[in-house]
Amino acid sequence: MNLLLYGAPGSGKGTQANMLRSRFGIPHIATGDMLRAEIAAGTPLGLQAQPILAAGQYVPDDIMIGMIRNRLREPDSAGGFIIDGFPRTVPQAEALDVLMRDLNHHLDRVLYLKVEMAELLERLSGRLVCPKCQRTYPPGTVACAVDGTPLVQREDDKTEAVRPRIEIYLTKTVPVLEHYRGAGIVSEIDGRGTIDQITGRVLNAIGENGRFGFH
Ligand code: AP5
Ligand code: MG
Repeated sequence: MNLLLYGAPGSGKGTQANMLRSRFGIPHIATGDMLRAEIAAGTPLGLQAQPILAAGQYVPDDIMIGMIRNRLREPDSAGGFIIDGFPRTVPQAEALDVLMRDLNHHLDRVLYLKVEMAELLERLSGRLVCPKCQRTYPPGTVACAVDGTPLVQREDDKTEAVRPRIEIYLTKTVPVLEHYRGAGIVSEIDGRGTIDQITGRVLNAIGENGRFGFH
């Protein structure tokens, strides 16, 4: 099962990917999390990426394509994966098509979590993350439910970075959806409601496809 989660910043990609990972035991490949791990480790890529993320801009395509290529070649991706945060531009989508062919994989479904702007802004301003495992939590949570680490606010959830993130999503990432609509593999999911309600819709979207044998 090879899934791609698509949606605006704050639409719930990470939240639903965590559920899918636990439920199906396949890796969650999140380019934003990978970049934040590079930043935390102080690698050359992390140093380059830090100001880009803080400003809500995109890391150059060639870097991101190289990163996803290396990750999908790791053995744990062979039995299925959930990609979150890639592709974010049409050149990235085209590169992923080539990579899928090279690896003899295909994407089963693109799950588009659709959430209106006001709700996105509210979610991002209140979001808390675990700096250790990157799981996300709603406002009011104090520590990570998995490893007990105190939660923090993400640097790019500060007000000055949220607007540019939404703007770049609208200009560069919305066309990516059209790329996949052409392939007929997009499931549009109403992303409003409780996390559990959306989980139910995500599972339906996968099950309804009929090829996977689970619901
Ligand atoms: P990335 O980490 O991918 O950020 P993003 O796309 O902006 O998405 P978010 O992680 O902010 O939101 P999400 O959809 O995962 O929502 P979440 O589940 O957390 O990328 C960060 C940066 O890295 C980019 O800006 C860019 O600079 C760079 N980058 C990454 N990939 C790149 C690429 N391919 N090319 C170039 N640059 C790249 O939910 C949000 C909040 O809402 C949480 O608090 C959650 O608890 C809450 N929530 C979730 N569901 C619900 C619900 N149903 N009701 C109420 N609250 C909810
Ligand atoms: Mg995320």
